[in-house]
Order: sequence, then structure tokens, then C-alpha cells
Amino acid sequence: MGTFRAVAEAPPGAGTPSWVLTVSSNKGGVGKTTVCSNLAVYLRALREDLPLLVVGLDDQTVLDRMYRLKPAERGEGNLKHGWAQRTLSQVIQLGEYGVHFVPSPPDVSLLKARAEDPATLRRILARTAWPGVVLLDTKSDLEALTVNAFHAANRILVPVADWASLEEAAKTFRLLERAQGGLARARVLLTLVDRRARGGGEGPNLLATLEREVERRGWPRFETVLSRSPRVESLNSGTAKPLSILHHARGTAVHGQMRALAEEVLRDMDESREPRAEPGDGGDALPRSGGWGGGLLGGLRSLGASAARAAAERVQPEGEEV
Ligand SMILES: Nc1ncnc2c1ncn2[C@@H]1O[C@H](COP(=O)(O)OP(=O)(O)OP(=O)(O)O)[C@@H](O)[C@H]1O
Ligand SMILES: [Mg+2]
Repeated sequence: MGTFRAVAEAPPGAGTPSWVLTVSSNKGGVGKTTVCSNLAVYLRALREDLPLLVVGLDDQTVLDRMYRLKPAERGEGNLKHGWAQRTLSQVIQLGEYGVHFVPSPPDVSLLKARAEDPATLRRILARTAWPGVVLLDTKSDLEALTVNAFHAANRILVPVADWASLEEAAKTFRLLERAQGGLARARVLLTLVDRRARGGGEGPNLLATLEREVERRGWPRFETVLSRSPRVESLNSGTAKPLSILHHARGTAVHGQMRALAEEVLRDMDESREPRAEPGDGGDALPRSGGWGGGLLGGLRSLGASAARAAAERVQPEGEEV
């Protein structure tokens, strides 16, 4: 059984190693795919020089429908081919919003059979050497492909929407606890929480109750909380091609929350890419980034001046170190 420590070990000269974020919940319908697909769009808007790659380990077609720029061609490569080739290089496509994606396979059961070794995907991503962020959307299970996505991840985002998903999150945390260094990578995202819903007597509302329970269990979490929004729901369910929150739900609270979440993720990535104080300690160490300084206030203008200022303050000129 491998450990969770090694991340994409890019071959010499391949540039900056990928930073991998896995979105996972054993509970279905908690917003994994919505968060994953839209986070890519927000990250791209905040840092337009940051290459974004979204990979769905699911056979649902949501991601493909959202990103695809042209109809699928016969014989087009998908994740199944990339898995067989041990690199995704040949199957990555440029999609909407400047986000790259890998087409989903028609059926993941075949892939699952080839995912018994939990380090398979990590090795595939290492060989792919994507020079930016890889977002992995998983199925609502804790089976072989999801475990592969845990092993490949620098950060594991676990959406929690209610008590049922909180209990399912406990299974994820237990699984990660058994793997060396795994637990430290998981972070809860409270999502789809109806702030008016009652919290069963323990708090003023469900959100406060869940916040308290996550804290009591000692699970780290993102500060940002995503609300439930009928507008956001209609972006997905109302059209054949799911639309992005950034471009089509600007007036909603979720828009500001997604921006805040993307900023949290960027801070997290930047911090984990700093050189560690104790060399040789293993764990989360990643080489320092050479070229993701930020540049992209153009993309930010539409996100509001304060976000642009905050991002500008974070931009640090860096030399080419790769
Ligand atoms: N913030 C939100 N507000 C309202 N509806 C949302 C929100 N986020 C997601 N949804 C809706 O909730 C449903 C489930 O979302 P999504 O498909 O992202 O969840 P999932 O966890 O990926 O589901 P699955 O387990 O089936 O993969 C979708 O109809 C989606 O449009
Ligand atoms: Mg999904």
C-alpha cells in the first residue's frame, strides 16, 4: 500500500509539478461536480496563467457537456485511453472558459478494475506532468478510483451538506487516517446549507450545528460556506450544457462564495508550494513554483475591485527557478 506523500514527481525538465485537488464525498448529490467544475473556472479567472485540468472519475457526462467546445469525434480519446497509456497527455482537450479537461469514459467499471493499485493515478499524473492545477471529481463512493484520487491529491475537499453527508465524511476521514499523511490533506467544505433550516436543537440553525460538529470532530475546513441557490441549480438542470456560475449567476451569493473559495484554494496551494522548514521531512513538500505569480487582473476586474486588490497584494515577482 503506497502512502499519500508523493505528489506528481515531474521528470527533470518537465516544469512545475501539478498541484492536485480531489473533490470527494461518499454521499451523492452534495455538489461535488458543481464545486469542482466551477472552481476550475474561478481559479482560471483569478490566475489566467495557471493551467487548469479537470478530470472526472465518473461516467456521468456533466463535465464533458460543460466544457466541450466541439462534438465528440469518433475514436476520440478519453480517460480510459489515458489510463491505458499511463499518461493523459494524448487525451487532454482545451474546453470552455480556458479550462482543459479529459473526456469521461462511457463506463468507469473497466477503469476501476485497473485501479487496484491505489498509486496508479498518481503515477499517471506524474507522467502527464500537467504544469498547473489538476481537479479530480469523484463518484459518490470510496472505491478504487476514489482511493486513487486520494493518493494523487495534495488536498481533498469533502463537501458536507447535512447530517447524512457529515456521517459519510467521517468514513472518508477514517479511511485517510489509516493512510500515512492522508488525514492532513482533507478539508471539509460546508455546502448547500439552507441557513434557515433548524439544527435539531443544538444550534440556532443547521449551519451552526454542522460548523460546531465539524469543529468538535477536529476536522479542518474551508472558511467559505456555499449556499443553496435556485439560480445555481438551474444552471445545471435547466440546459443541456451546464453553465458556469461565474458567467451566469453573478448576482448570487454563491458567486461571491465561489470566488472566496478559489482564493482560499490558491492560498493553500501557494503555502504548500513554499519550501519546508525541515528538509527531508517528507509530507506535503513541493518545489517552489516558478511562474504562477498571478498576472491576470483582467480576469479579476469582473470579480470586483477588492478581490483584485487582494490578489494583487499576493502577487510576488519570482525568478525562474525551475
Ligand atoms: N449551490 C447550489 N445550490 C443549488 N443547487 C445546487 C448547488 N450546487 C449543486 N446544486 C445542484 O445539486 C445537484 C447535485 O449537484 P452535483 O451534481 O454537483 O452533486 P454531486 O455530489 O456531484 O452528485 P453525484 O453524487 O451524483 O456525483 C445538481 O442538480 C446541482 O445543480
Ligand atoms: Mg458528481
